[in-house]
Amino acid sequence: MAEKQTILVTGGSGFIGTNLVRRLVSGGRYRVVNLDALTYAANPLSLADLDGSPNYIFVKGNITDRGLVSALFEEHQPVGVFHLAAETHVDRSIVSAEDFLQTNVVGTYTMLEAARTYWDGLPAARKDSFRFLHVSSDEVFGALGEEGYFSEETPYAPNSPYSASKAASDHFVRAYHHTYGLPTLITNCSNNYGPYQFPEKMIPLMILNALSGKPLPVYGEGANVRDWIYVDDHCRAVQLAFEKARPGETYVVGAGNERRNIDLVNQICSLLDEMAPPSEVHALRARGLKSYAELIRLVEDRPGHDHRYAIDSARITRQLGWQAEVGFEAGLRRTIEWYLSHPEWIDQASRGSYGEWIEKNYAWRAQKEKK
Ligand code: TYD
Repeated sequence: MAEKQTILVTGGSGFIGTNLVRRLVSGGRYRVVNLDALTYAANPLSLADLDGSPNYIFVKGNITDRGLVSALFEEHQPVGVFHLAAETHVDRSIVSAEDFLQTNVVGTYTMLEAARTYWDGLPAARKDSFRFLHVSSDEVFGALGEEGYFSEETPYAPNSPYSASKAASDHFVRAYHHTYGLPTLITNCSNNYGPYQFPEKMIPLMILNALSGKPLPVYGEGANVRDWIYVDDHCRAVQLAFEKARPGETYVVGAGNERRNIDLVNQICSLLDEMAPPSEVHALRARGLKSYAELIRLVEDRPGHDHRYAIDSARITRQLGWQAEVGFEAGLRRTIEWYLSHPEWIDQASRGSYGEWIEKNYAWRAQKEKK
């Protein structure tokens, strides 16, 4: 059997990271070193079952720690990097951008510098095949109106402190390829959903609020549109790019599932009505609620709220043969099923500072109207 190749994954304990690490380890081809700072959004239970696996090594630490990052390159001699560690929640970046600047910009710069030093010293064949894959967001492109799609040619126009920090990190990655020849790749993906997502993001927040009979806070009129992709489809795209793409390439990735927020929340509610009937859930039955949709509330909008994101993934389909495989309703069902069957994970995620965040983000958002 061929020897396993080592990959350094940053942010492997976050939502997308957890799904990607599982995929890489179970594929049998790679050994994964996961560097993660275990900030609020990481759940120690997410990868607990991989502890002790010979193909998984966890290192708690920060990507801004140059000494640590360089030591990991030297010790583990990775064939490449999947760089996912990032602060990702727009609403938090509106409250304070400091952590976004540190992790997303300084952290990416630190990863690039350490990777460049390591890569410079590799023998020619390993140098050629090395890849630094930077996982980014479609939000760097700003917002769309009712028409059009983001593609690899769309000019950068970030609107939130979060997307500004991701745009800056993308630019550094691009510059390291252009200036030093570092074999980088960038993927800009649309909104992910699926198992292990921290319940500050829209889909898990709505599922968990609904099941505990709390209001479902839809920003503004709920008319903003997001293009949703099941996390496994995204991870497959990222792995394919790592293994097959030409250095310097960038790909936008999306599954073509555009939904208005209000329609999505209604869809989640009707799936929940079927999968966890309100008559059988104490928090709803006690209040005589017949449908989760009765919990929907329109609340004060997000400042600078991007109207619409939508992706044209033609390039990754044409060059790498990638296509999304999970239909939207099937993916939502799988996601709801996962949250219904992982109460310990949810308990863990709801501890610590979660309650404070919910208070900070929602207490000031006056309800706009009865719905
Ligand atoms: P989110 O999951 O935060 O992702 P992003 O801001 O990166 O797109 O939000 C998805 C959409 O849902 C976005 O248009 C904001 C909206 N939203 C709500 O309406 N209510 C909420 O409580 C949250 C968290 C988001």
